[in-house]
Amino acid sequence: MRVAQSNSNLPVIERGQPISLQVNGQLVSAYEGETIAGVLFAEGRRILRHTMKDSRPRSIFCGIGVCYDCLVTVNGAPNVRACVTPVTEGMVIETQTRERK
Ligand code: FES
Repeated sequence: MRVAQSNSNLPVIERGQPISLQVNGQLVSAYEGETIAGVLFAEGRRILRHTMKDSRPRSIFCGIGVCYDCLVTVNGAPNVRACVTPVTEGMVIETQTRERK
């Protein structure tokens, strides 16, 4: 869920241009300037990947590009940090999730 309107005591929210992209095969709306992580959270997606060894779920942890818990695949390139990568028109994002065994 995105904040649609700011409180009257706060500055007006200025968004970038609306764009479209794909997340796990679904068409999603976003705004220029948002990060991939922001868009995924706005879409209600909290688990962005599972660990290789134990298949444990991971999500945003540091939010500044340090911990690598938010890795996703972007336009076929794996292990892109969602928290520091801005979205672009037509981007194809796949979460690196898998079912537990
Ligand atoms: S949340 Fe830590 S690198 Fe993205």
